[in-house]
Amino acid sequence: MKSKLPHVGTTIFSVMSALANECQAINLSQGFPNFPVDQRLISLIQENSLTNVHQYAPMTGIVELREQIVQKINLHYQRELDPSNVLITAGATQAIFATIQALVHPGEEVIILDPSYDCYESPVILSGAKAIRIPLSDNFLPDWDHIRSKVNHQTKLIITNNPHNPSGRVWDDSDFVELQNLLNDFPNLWVLSDEVYEFISFEKKHISAHQIDGLKDRSIVVSSFGKTFHITGWKIGYLTAPDKVMAEIHKVHQFMVFSVNSPAQAALACYLPETDLHQLGTFYQEKRDYFREQMSSSRFKLLPSDGSYFQVASFENISDETDVEFCKRMTKEFGVASIPLSVFNADLADRKLIRFCFAKDQETLSSAAQRLCKI
Ligand SMILES: Cc1ncc(COP(=O)(O)O)c(C=O)c1O
Repeated sequence: MKSKLPHVGTTIFSVMSALANECQAINLSQGFPNFPVDQRLISLIQENSLTNVHQYAPMTGIVELREQIVQKINLHYQRELDPSNVLITAGATQAIFATIQALVHPGEEVIILDPSYDCYESPVILSGAKAIRIPLSDNFLPDWDHIRSKVNHQTKLIITNNPHNPSGRVWDDSDFVELQNLLNDFPNLWVLSDEVYEFISFEKKHISAHQIDGLKDRSIVVSSFGKTFHITGWKIGYLTAPDKVMAEIHKVHQFMVFSVNSPAQAALACYLPETDLHQLGTFYQEKRDYFREQMSSSRFKLLPSDGSYFQVASFENISDETDVEFCKRMTKEFGVASIPLSVFNADLADRKLIRFCFAKDQETLSSAAQRLCKI
C-alpha cells in the first residue's frame, strides 16, 4: 500500500522505552513523571465519576472548565479571553493536529524549528503542505536571520515551542520582538505556540504568546494538563484561538474526536481553582538542581536547562559513537535510557547530545546519576 507518511516509523520514545524495559534500565528517556499524582485530583475524578458525567461532553469542552482556564490565563498572563476562545482537546497532540489541518492548505508552507518535537511535521504533510525545517542556533534559540530568509507569502504558520523540548531552553525578550516583526511583515502568517511546559521555567521566566500585543491575536496557543498536573495518561489539554480561526479548528476537532473525556473535564474544572501553578517551577527546579548536582562528577557536559523537565548532556568527551548508538549502548551496558537529539532534526544532524528527563523521584534520579557517573 502506498504510504501517506513514508518516512514515519516507530517513534524513538517507543523504541527507547521498549529497550529500557527489556534491559530493566532506569528510564529517563520518555517525558513522563514517575511520582504520584496529587491525591486531591484522584479524589476529584473519583467523586465526579459518581455523578452524571458519563455521556458526551459539549464539542468545545464543558463551560465550567473553559471558564476556569480563562481565569488562569488572566491570572498568569493578564489576558482577558472569552470561554468561546478556549477548546478542550485530547492532549496538546490533538490540538496541534487539529490546528494544522484547519489552517494549512495544500501547497502552503509551515516553519518548524529543529530540533523539534515529533508531532509537528506529519499533520503538515497530511495537509498537502510543505514543512520547512530550520535549525535553531547552537544555543537552541531561534536563528532569526535564517528564519526570515525562509518566510515568504506561502508561509502560513510558524510552530514555536517554548520552553523547548528537547533542549530545555527558554526564549529571550528579543526573540519575541523578532517574531512580532516577522508577523508585521507577513500579514498572512500565524503562530502555533506550543507552550505545554509553560509553568515549568526556572531562573529565566517563561513569556507566553498570551502576554504579547501583536502576537496574541495572531497565535493559537497550546497547553497540556498532562504536563502541568503530572497526568500525561489522561491525554487532556486545550488551545486558545481568535474567533475566526477557532471556527475553522472546531470544524476539524468535531470530526477528530467530537469531544474529550468528560469525567476528566469535570474533575479538572473542580481542581483548577484549588491549584497554585506558581509552585510548579520551583518543584521542577529542585529536581533539575538535584540531578545536575548528582551528575557533577560525571564525564558528561551538562548544557543549560531553563525550563521543561529535560536536561541535555554532551557525551563528546566519552565516545565518538553516534548519539543513537551511544544511547542504545548506555541503556544495555549501564542501565540508563535517554533520548538522542539527532532524531529531532530533519537532517538527523548528530551533535553528540542526549536528553534526560528529570521528572522522576529523587531515588530514580540518584540511582541513574550513580550509573552515569561510572561511564
Ligand atoms: C513540546 C511538546 N508538545 C506537545 C506534547 C504532547 O503533549 P500531550 O501529551 O498533551 O499530547 C509534548 C509531549 O511530550 C511535548 O513535549
